[in-house]
Amino acid sequence: MTSPASFPAWKALLTHHQTMKNSHIRDLFEQDSDRFKRFSLQLDDILFDYSKHRITEETMTLLFALAKASELTGWTEKMFGGERINSAENRAVLHTALRNRSSKPVYVDGNDVMPEIRQTLDKMRNFTQHLHNREYQGFTGEPLTNIVNIGIGGSDLGPAMVTRALTPYRIQGIQPYFVSNIDDSHIMEALKQVRPETTLFIVASKTFTTQETMTNAHTARRWLVNAFGNESAVARHFVAVSTNTSATAEFGIHPDNIFSFRDWVGGRYSLWSAIGLSIAISIGMDAFEELLDGAFSVDCHFRDTPYENNIPVIMAMLGIWYANFFGAETHAILPYSQYLDRFAAYLQQADMESNGKRTDRDGIIINGYTTGPVIWGEPGTNGQHAFYQLIHQGTRLIPADFLAPLHSHHDIGDHHRILLSHCLAQSEALMKGKSLNEVVTDMKHSGYSETQTQQIAPHKVFPGNRSSSTFLFSKLNPRTLGRLIALYEHKIFVQGIIWGINSFDQWGVELGKQLAGKIFNELVDAKPINTHDPSTNGLINYCKRSKDTTI
Ligand code: F6P
Repeated sequence: MTSPASFPAWKALLTHHQTMKNSHIRDLFEQDSDRFKRFSLQLDDILFDYSKHRITEETMTLLFALAKASELTGWTEKMFGGERINSAENRAVLHTALRNRSSKPVYVDGNDVMPEIRQTLDKMRNFTQHLHNREYQGFTGEPLTNIVNIGIGGSDLGPAMVTRALTPYRIQGIQPYFVSNIDDSHIMEALKQVRPETTLFIVASKTFTTQETMTNAHTARRWLVNAFGNESAVARHFVAVSTNTSATAEFGIHPDNIFSFRDWVGGRYSLWSAIGLSIAISIGMDAFEELLDGAFSVDCHFRDTPYENNIPVIMAMLGIWYANFFGAETHAILPYSQYLDRFAAYLQQADMESNGKRTDRDGIIINGYTTGPVIWGEPGTNGQHAFYQLIHQGTRLIPADFLAPLHSHHDIGDHHRILLSHCLAQSEALMKGKSLNEVVTDMKHSGYSETQTQQIAPHKVFPGNRSSSTFLFSKLNPRTLGRLIALYEHKIFVQGIIWGINSFDQWGVELGKQLAGKIFNELVDAKPINTHDPSTNGLINYCKRSKDTTI
């Protein structure tokens, strides 16, 4: 594979960076009164403002040239067209087919996958309706109203984030819980809150072999069987979502209660598939399909819009600009919505498991450029009272995304106006900063002495020039959430193409799993071992000693 760093467009960006690196966004605004109009786009109810970036029209032209040189359009068509672009696993990448709301077929190896996708959606609709109408009952005849989703990674983070984000759309009487961690506190605390008679467990696992999920599922199964003293209760209280239908049957799940999907759905892209069953049960199938509709509108936008107006392409190329030319290491996700408090955690898997790679598609070690950024964040305004200090005055450049709904679901007093004012103020402060002159003038007005001013003023200076994008949308509803998630999914895809990596495998999770298997066996007794490095031996033996004594 040709390294992107050898493309003329990359080299032109390096040269351009030399002229841009000392520019200040404040000056760019002064030079161009149309800057907001020039660098903002509207997609349905989402306004995307990217004018507070260290860019000019030339920057964007060069970034788009890089996208073109990387054959982005060709790769996009390969993905949507069902080609096996996940080369290391020899799989197609078709989460977009799951939300293909058109009547157009989508082929994998000559077979249209759409009829099966629609069948699964019908099955999900039937099941959720039965449950909501209280026609689906548990072992003792009580309707099932507590839903415990047992899964991890993509089989947890997407459904948990969406269900949380769409709390106002919850079906009355249904209470979802999410159990992911192997730490027994997670399952035990969930089980404390539910009654076996009214609880449905969804075992969500693409492979149905993931240790954490299977261990939690077996603990839940034992809890249920103990409660009823009857194995046959499992068939009423457990459903499974998986590609591994033989393993689900072995677990004792009734064939009618198995919801399947295909291996061309990556775990972290699977909330649109039957993995979204917990979402559908929590908010209803109509709302779940609105989520799909929202994502589909972004798929169409991404596929059909020239780079210049293409929001995911612009998001991705801005990320490339900062990571590869300014050396930014991280990217902050700052939603001004408490309902989006799991959004950053969700995007961590989506982005970091996809683009945290060090070899290119051909297996050659990447040299000369960095790949996926560290993704992190928390909702505002909480983050403002925690880590924003570093974004404003630290020594690192941290590009950030602000996301905010224009309308609250509650509209209580001034809450929402205050929330919005903070969101808008933060991106303004990051961009503009506050100069020494401004600080000194302020301090004089506030009555500080000359000595105090001299001492304190440097600490109060904000350099500004900190880049951010802002996404404003009408209300956090299923359609808009679907759009937001799909925007980020395609942003991740585009960056993977530019870096020449396979964004759809995840070998980096394997080594730890293997070593844990060995250590699990070694932790069985107190006999000291010496089979690892000295640090790991020391730690294992320390744990082992706790078997004999109370440490
Ligand atoms: O170990 C990583 C991973 O494979 C993720 O990619 C995936 O989302 C998660 O584990 C859960 O996998 P599964 O759905 O097969 O249980």
